[in-house]
Amino acid sequence: MSEARIAPEDIVDDLPGPKKDFAPIEGAPRHVAIIMDGNGRWAQARGRPRLFGHHAGAKRVREIVEACEDLGVKYLTIFAFSTENWKRTQVEVAGLMSLFRRYIAKETRELDERDARVRFIGDRVKLDRKLIALMDTLEAETSGNDGVQLTVALNYGGRDEVARATKRLAQDVADGKLDPAKVDEETLPKYLDTHVLPDPDLVIRTSGEARISNFLLWQSAYAEYEFVDTLWPDFSAEEFARLCESYARRDRRFGAVIS
Ligand code: IPE
Ligand code: IPE
Ligand code: MG
Repeated sequence: MSEARIAPEDIVDDLPGPKKDFAPIEGAPRHVAIIMDGNGRWAQARGRPRLFGHHAGAKRVREIVEACEDLGVKYLTIFAFSTENWKRTQVEVAGLMSLFRRYIAKETRELDERDARVRFIGDRVKLDRKLIALMDTLEAETSGNDGVQLTVALNYGGRDEVARATKRLAQDVADGKLDPAKVDEETLPKYLDTHVLPDPDLVIRTSGEARISNFLLWQSAYAEYEFVDTLWPDFSAEEFARLCESYARRDRRFGAVIS
C-alpha cells in the first residue's frame, strides 16, 4: 500500500472496550494538558500509513476522559492539530481533517451522555465549514454539562493565540475601552482562547520528545511537565493515572520558599 493512502480497513472505527475504574487521587491535577505525539511513528513501526496511527490515536481519547472522571481531573486539554501541522503533506492534512469530522460526529452523543463539556481553542479561520459546523454543534450541545471539561486544541499555536489576543487587546485600547496604563499580567489572559480555563497544572507529552511545540505557552509558565516515551496510540488510562499520582506527590513552589 502506498504511504499516501489509507484503506477503509485501516480506519479504526471500534472504540475502546469496557471502562476501567480508578480511585480518586487526593491532590490530583485540576487541569491536565496533553501533547498527543507519536501517531506517525506508531504506524510506521507497523509498516502502515501515518493516518492509521492518527485513527488509532483518536481511539485513546475516550479512555482518558473516562479516567479523568474517576481520578478527579476536572479539565483536560488535548493538542490535536497545531498551526505548524499544515506543513505536512496535503494527504495527511486532509486525512486528519476528515478524521476530526468523523470523530466529532461519532463522539458527540457519547461525550454529552458522560456530562462532558467540550470546547475548541485555536484559530478556526483556516478550517473547513463542515468541520466548523460540527465543532459548533458539539460545543453547543455540551455547553450545559458540568462533568469533565474537555478542550481540543485544533489549528492551535501558542504564539498565534498570543498574537490574536494582542490584536484584540490593541483594538480595545484604540476604541478607548481599555487603558494601556492598566494592562498587566491579568489582562492578556482574558483575551486568550483559554480565558475561561484555569492554567494547566500538568502537561504531558508522549513519544519521547522533550519540547512543547508551541502549546499553551502563556498558560504553562508554572505547569509541571511529564515527557514519556510511550507513543500516543499506546498511551493507556493506567499510565495517565500513574502520572497524575506522581503529580500529586510533587512540590510546587511558584518561586517561593516552602519551609
Ligand atoms: C501527533 O502525532 C499527531 C499530530 C501532530 C496531528 P505525529 O503525527 O506528530 O506522530 P510522529 O511524531 O510523526 O510520530
Ligand atoms: C505537536 O506535535 C502537535 C500535536 C501533537 C498536535 P508535532 O509532532 O507536530 O511537533 P514537532 O513537529 O515534533 O515539534
Ligand atoms: Mg510528532
